[in-house]
Amino acid sequence: VAVKTKQKNEYPIGIFDSGVGGLTVVNAIKRKLPYENLVYLGDTARTPYGTKAGETVIRFTRECVAHLMRYKIKALVVACNTASAYTLPMLRRNFKIPILGVIQPGARAAVAQSTKGRIGVIGTRATIHSQAYPDTIAKMRKSAHVISKACPLFVPLVEEGWLEGSIPVGVIKKYLTPMLEKNIRSLILGCTHYPALKPALAKVCGRRVEIIDSAEEVSKELESVLRTKNMSSQNTKRGTQKYLVTDVPEQFNRVGGIILGRKLQHVHRVALED
Ligand code: DGL
Repeated sequence: VAVKTKQKNEYPIGIFDSGVGGLTVVNAIKRKLPYENLVYLGDTARTPYGTKAGETVIRFTRECVAHLMRYKIKALVVACNTASAYTLPMLRRNFKIPILGVIQPGARAAVAQSTKGRIGVIGTRATIHSQAYPDTIAKMRKSAHVISKACPLFVPLVEEGWLEGSIPVGVIKKYLTPMLEKNIRSLILGCTHYPALKPALAKVCGRRVEIIDSAEEVSKELESVLRTKNMSSQNTKRGTQKYLVTDVPEQFNRVGGIILGRKLQHVHRVALED
């Protein structure tokens, strides 16, 4: 039995995203848990999810996670905020491994940091429409005041590599000025792509606003779940990463390079219906 447990600890962690943005989560997990093996699946053939209806997001996510299960993953991180907003109950019913989304950890960090003050949340249209962040925050602190805003132009800005300068700063100002005027104290980056805009966001928000990166928060939570469940890798060598995509990999490589600031390797196209 002991040997079996040991082997299982070396099984990879599955990371699911609608496309390429979840690499921000891979980055955070690699920093926090360097010895874990990772398998990432980005549904690049059907991205973006943030513009789609909840039921579509649920169907696509179920298919992708079923595919990831073939890699004997020991735990799953839903890196995509849109998928996290809609699919966690369904996934937890269907798959019996620890499953983490990004909403809960981001919400928890915001509540911990803004004892008074308002909390700003930004994300895709679908994420904001779902109310997942305000609902989760309200369960943690009833009196919390949350101001949400969908920022649909941020994803294309990041995918274009326009991370700094007058254009992203102007777009950020246009979306965020109303919540900044209401004196938010923390801002949850409720979308995989937004950490890439952090310097420009920080410039617009100023020092009074604490920027909360869901990618960082979920990696802390993952570390704690693996430790408590005795599932951490015992490896002494750095873990491996495998990247799977549902479309040809060129675009993933290009945008992934922008998000990670370095070249990607080991990217394979998969067919979900195989
Ligand atoms: N991954 C998505 C999210 O975090 C952003 C990109 C998309 O719309 O698919 O919400």
